[in-house]
Amino acid sequence: MKANRQRVLETVETIYKIFKQKVSIGVLTGTGIFGSIDGIKEICRFDYEQLPHFPVSTVPGHKGQLFVGKLAEKYILIMQGRFHLYEGYSPTQVAYPVRVMQELGVKTLIVTNAAGGINLSYAPGDIMMIKDHINLTGQNPLAGPNEGDWGIRFPDMTKVYDSDLIDAACRIAKKSNLRIHRGVYAGLLGPSLETPAEIRFLKTIGSDAVGLSTIMEVIAGIHAQMKILGISLITNINNPDHPEKTTLESVLET
Ligand code: HPA
Repeated sequence: MKANRQRVLETVETIYKIFKQKVSIGVLTGTGIFGSIDGIKEICRFDYEQLPHFPVSTVPGHKGQLFVGKLAEKYILIMQGRFHLYEGYSPTQVAYPVRVMQELGVKTLIVTNAAGGINLSYAPGDIMMIKDHINLTGQNPLAGPNEGDWGIRFPDMTKVYDSDLIDAACRIAKKSNLRIHRGVYAGLLGPSLETPAEIRFLKTIGSDAVGLSTIMEVIAGIHAQMKILGISLITNINNPDHPEKTTLESVLET
């Protein structure tokens, strides 16, 4: 079997046949969040199916497209649709888009997701800038032999989310009347959602929101020495004393 880096380089070769420039910013979008690319000049786009070795997403709301655009003289790559551990993908596959970004030169990674609020001062529709995370998936994309061309064996995780990017994002978001928080994201394996007892546990250990994505990509991004901005859209509130059903439909609607 080919080494993962070899596969990534073959994916990059396919992109280079159409577009061969260094890309500075990479965006990975989450559940249902694939509108809003206004103001970005389109350069090209690929369906994931066109890209060799690229996993294919299986969840409704995930479009599976790689979009390259230009904004303020910078090339920006937007991956619309991501892969989740709960779909059965390995941590390596989930982190695959980030490795493609790394080989394309991306230095800043913006990840968005849908998350359930644990902090009861949050409300559906609020935005949480991720200031830190708790990896409860039991998985890690760096487990196994280290790919030295990509990064070091034991990456530091004391400052994962870039505080300058958080400040800038908060400044911009405040202009648009959004309710903004800075909080801790707990990442679970899923796909079953949380029991009230699990919600209490998540609160006790310091989480403000919970979701089923993002952590694998962010760890790969740190390994790749990227600056990271993580943004959660709070789609529902998990109150363990008044549990309410969460459905994919209600999450997508928010
Ligand atoms: N739990 C886990 N993932 C989620 C939730 C939730 O309540 N809401 C959106 N994604």
